[in-house]
Amino acid sequence: MHFLKKQFLIQIFLHTPFATMHIDCHVKYYYTIIYITILFLNVLKLSFSDPNVAISIDCGATIEGKDIDGRKWEMDTKYILSPGDSQPVKAQFQDPALLSDIPYMTARVSKSEMTYKFPINSTSRYFLRLHFYPGSYPSFNIEKSYFSVTVAGFTVLNNFSAAVTAEALTQAYIIKEYSFAPLDGIDSLELKFKASYKYDGSFAFVNGIELVPTPNFLDSAVLVGFSDQSLDGKTATTETVARLNVGGNYIPPTNDSGLLRTWYDDTPYLFGAGVGVTSSDNKTVGLDYRDMPKYIAPKTVYDTWRSMGPDPNVTLNFNLTWTFSVDPSFTYIVRLHFCEHVYSKVNQRLFNVYIYNQTATPSGADVIAWTGAKDVPVYKDFAVNVQTGEGQQEVLVALHPRDIGAEKPEFYDAILNGLEVFKVSDGNKNLAGPNPSPSEALAKAEQEKRKNFSKDVTRINAIWPASGVAAAFGLATVLAVVLYKKKSRMPRSKSGTSSWLPLYGNSHSSGMKSTIGGNSVACAQLSTEAAANCRHFTLAEIRKATKNFDESNVIGVGGFGKVYKGVIDGNFKVAIKKSNPSSEQGVNEFVTEIEMLSKLRHKHLVSLIGYCEENGEMALVYDFMAHGTLREHLYKGNKINLTWKQRLEMLIGAAKGLHYLHTGAKYTIIHRDVKTTNILLDENWVAKISDFGLSKTGPETNQHHVSTVVKGSFGYLDPEYFRRQQLTEKSDVYSFGVVLFEILCARPALNPSLPKEQVSLADWARSSVRKGNIEEIIDPNIKGTIKPECLKKFVDTAFKCLSDHGIDRPSMSDLLWNLEFSLQLQESGDGPKGGSSGRNTASDNINMHLSTLNLDDDEDYTESVSSSNNQNSSTAIFSQIVHQTGR
Ligand SMILES: *[C@@H]1O[C@H](CO)[C@@H](O)[C@H](O)[C@H]1NC(C)=O
Repeated sequence: MHFLKKQFLIQIFLHTPFATMHIDCHVKYYYTIIYITILFLNVLKLSFSDPNVAISIDCGATIEGKDIDGRKWEMDTKYILSPGDSQPVKAQFQDPALLSDIPYMTARVSKSEMTYKFPINSTSRYFLRLHFYPGSYPSFNIEKSYFSVTVAGFTVLNNFSAAVTAEALTQAYIIKEYSFAPLDGIDSLELKFKASYKYDGSFAFVNGIELVPTPNFLDSAVLVGFSDQSLDGKTATTETVARLNVGGNYIPPTNDSGLLRTWYDDTPYLFGAGVGVTSSDNKTVGLDYRDMPKYIAPKTVYDTWRSMGPDPNVTLNFNLTWTFSVDPSFTYIVRLHFCEHVYSKVNQRLFNVYIYNQTATPSGADVIAWTGAKDVPVYKDFAVNVQTGEGQQEVLVALHPRDIGAEKPEFYDAILNGLEVFKVSDGNKNLAGPNPSPSEALAKAEQEKRKNFSKDVTRINAIWPASGVAAAFGLATVLAVVLYKKKSRMPRSKSGTSSWLPLYGNSHSSGMKSTIGGNSVACAQLSTEAAANCRHFTLAEIRKATKNFDESNVIGVGGFGKVYKGVIDGNFKVAIKKSNPSSEQGVNEFVTEIEMLSKLRHKHLVSLIGYCEENGEMALVYDFMAHGTLREHLYKGNKINLTWKQRLEMLIGAAKGLHYLHTGAKYTIIHRDVKTTNILLDENWVAKISDFGLSKTGPETNQHHVSTVVKGSFGYLDPEYFRRQQLTEKSDVYSFGVVLFEILCARPALNPSLPKEQVSLADWARSSVRKGNIEEIIDPNIKGTIKPECLKKFVDTAFKCLSDHGIDRPSMSDLLWNLEFSLQLQESGDGPKGGSSGRNTASDNINMHLSTLNLDDDEDYTESVSSSNNQNSSTAIFSQIVHQTGR
């Protein structure tokens, strides 16, 4: 072994120009130098040349450094076998989406061939990860970079453009992960980077390289459709297509079992309207891994899962499906991870697995039958040959309850905890595919993004940072799937907007639980994902933006502290909320707000741009809302009188924001403090929900409420919440009901100066409705302009929101529908139908036909709406799911 190492060093040495000089003169002298140098290098290299230890190198770096997770990255110079004309470069701009400046801010660039060489242990399998940041580097035009990479005879990249790939995937950086089967008899791995000759001025570059020895974790995989054939995973060299923690959160490499893998949230890969339900069980003290090695997947993967749901009428009608875009003409290994936490008997949860439209489990999948007990993890490997064809193909992995003849299971359900997809190298030792091209959906999404955020490029960067976080394995058209999914989810909000656009980062929500409900939360507990999802500002930047917190810039004061108007990036207006350092509540709410908002993006939610945390000072930076709070336009010396239609449009916007919180995000999010001062208006009078400092994530599965100390604002508080200290999304509906009356009557929710029975608007409005004299308390400014049918619908709806019991209140989606319908009633007869009377800025067009609506039974709206969406079956399924969870 030692001998081999020395040989390797000499080899390196002979490749250097220095070694070629020893031809004529004092040969002995030179040998002495060489010998001493080798000794010296040996001492130096002892620490890194152990092939059984993971290597991470920060290419082009001049010092070693640590990444955001605290992992060390060393310089690359020691590993360069032949440098070509390579040179180290520094990126000129750090994209806010970069999780860490190391290894991305430096690179090694070469126009001619350059080779890295790493010692390996020929009996071990290795992960090789290549990190590329196609940013801007001085005197290199990244768009011109096309290159190939070969490793131990395998072509892993060919004519690869990091810039094109990153653009197609809307990622700031690309991580490519390969797993090399043991390379018999070879004790070093050479990576050759070669610029493509096809393009003038082309060059190769790389920012980071990781080489991690691993056990041989691949086994034989059953070939789907040919149950008697299998693929030998042990000798397969692969590229990772996806690695998902199904039903769970992003798992950073440092939380993996030494293999330094990253596990991503599965939601961007879900296909269709039926997304099932997610659950978790981290109470289990330890999983019983039996003889399955722990490195297969960490416990956190098995602790969360996605199932189809409890209702057989629903589950039997859809497939729980994930989709992956892959290159044609390759074989893929699909690894499914399971762990049953709920049932313990065979035939309770029996289902089929379909991969690439073929049955992968001819005799059904039953986790308990495989493991014999609950809380025992297990995995199954399948192989599929993806046909030749043009462009990328979709591989669907689908689950469906098994319902064949006599073998009926007790529950019609299916489960999955983790999913990995690996591309296997072909007969020519090739793993490379073409550069992906942006999908149509993506192009559209980009366009939408521009439309909504066209003002400032840096702002786009700041607002859409998380796109690089998920799906970093370079899977194309994930976004298209999200589009598809959300479309079918909300068949009525057709005009689409950018509401869902948001980001894969969306659900990387580890850390969320720990920050909520804890009482000693410090900022350090901000999850790395949240931190990565929004821009970090220095205190100096914040001071500059607010003219050193000049009092003249104060635009509001809240429990958290003061809110300042500010300007960043030259001319971009923001609102800056500065915390009051003495308040512990401030710290908690600060963290909650970042955690929440950094994952949520919606047209009707105020966008968080970034945060600052320095020297105990904390500040949150938001989009500036030019027209302030909704409340200030209702009473208290309002300057302009909002028309009824404008008010309805604003309410619809706010309702959409809340609806998204309740149903659009991964967890149900309960705002807890809905009121007219938390509904803000932008320069186009678009209403946006703000202030998430009190928000709670709601019930995940079995529990239907969140127990909590009562918080919120008097006048808006749900009496049931008050009585039972149990929070549900219906608490927000109640508060929103108060807002509805506040808007109709233009008076505060509480007004102590009024006669006793009138102090509380909720009580006063309800008694007025009961007495049938609501007309008397309507804002005189608009009273005559409201159409009677509209008023009736509106008041009925608002009244229902104020029901004593949550169960009698409408869901946010019913409420939203009723508001949209009220607007239609107001507009009908108002000139041409559809409200094309010019000023319909705030509301999206409502894509429905009045004639098909059933006026008395609003609950069936999802079925009765005639939508241009032709996903009939999934729409129907979705409505059932809506009703199931919405009640
Ligand atoms: C589920 O997927 C399988 C395989 O593609 C297909 O045959 C079946 O019709 C699907 N079932 C439903 C309900 O979509």
